[in-house]
Amino acid sequence: MGFKIKMNESEEKIIVSPSLLSANFANLERDIKKAKDGGADWLHIDVMDGHFVPNITIGVPVVKSIRQITDLILDVHLMIENPEKYIDAFVKAGADILTVHYEATGTKTRDILKKIKSLGIMAGLSIKPKTHPEEINEYISLADLILVMTVEPGFGGQDFMPECAEKLEYIKQRQLDGQYLQVDGGINAETADICKKLGANSLVAGSYIFGNNDITQGIQSLKK
Ligand code: DX5
Ligand code: ZN
Repeated sequence: MGFKIKMNESEEKIIVSPSLLSANFANLERDIKKAKDGGADWLHIDVMDGHFVPNITIGVPVVKSIRQITDLILDVHLMIENPEKYIDAFVKAGADILTVHYEATGTKTRDILKKIKSLGIMAGLSIKPKTHPEEINEYISLADLILVMTVEPGFGGQDFMPECAEKLEYIKQRQLDGQYLQVDGGINAETADICKKLGANSLVAGSYIFGNNDITQGIQSLKK
């Protein structure tokens, strides 16, 4: 089982969640340690199945191995179809947050969020660039975290889509105290600023952090 998160943490600070997708996969332990030492709050792990998105990354066994070498909060982003089939396995592997995509959960969204929470971890709900925030209106208060994608999910290193960030305000207005509003895709010091102003309190960044020679500087520049 993972580590418990203080629910009022989001009111206190900006959470930085480095995306492992841009780390060196042959040196994950080294890069995770660098992220932790640099001030990372969470660790973002992108799970892709080659169906929901056109890429395949990592799965349950890798999350389990990572759990053994770090006490960082494991923020697992499921870009997969039928995510309900894998909830138990990811929780058992040590995920602290499981974020599913509304485009994959549809009418099952409520039950899936409930199931994740019933297992004692945080439940996140994400929307892709073409999904309007109105579509998830009824689920906003049920999710511990809403993730607004600011690129088409699937790959790191893409350009930030400013029109997606505009959704943040709509969601922020409907969230309860202590819930997280996360952005993912094309985040750097400049785009982070835009998102923070619009209400984001959790920032995912891959290439900006791991592509930076100074990982600590990358993480800290997002927190300012
Ligand atoms: C993309 C992933 C992201 C990705 C972000 O589908 O969900 O987490 O790693 O990468 P950057 O920060 O490079 O845009
Ligand atoms: Zn992600």
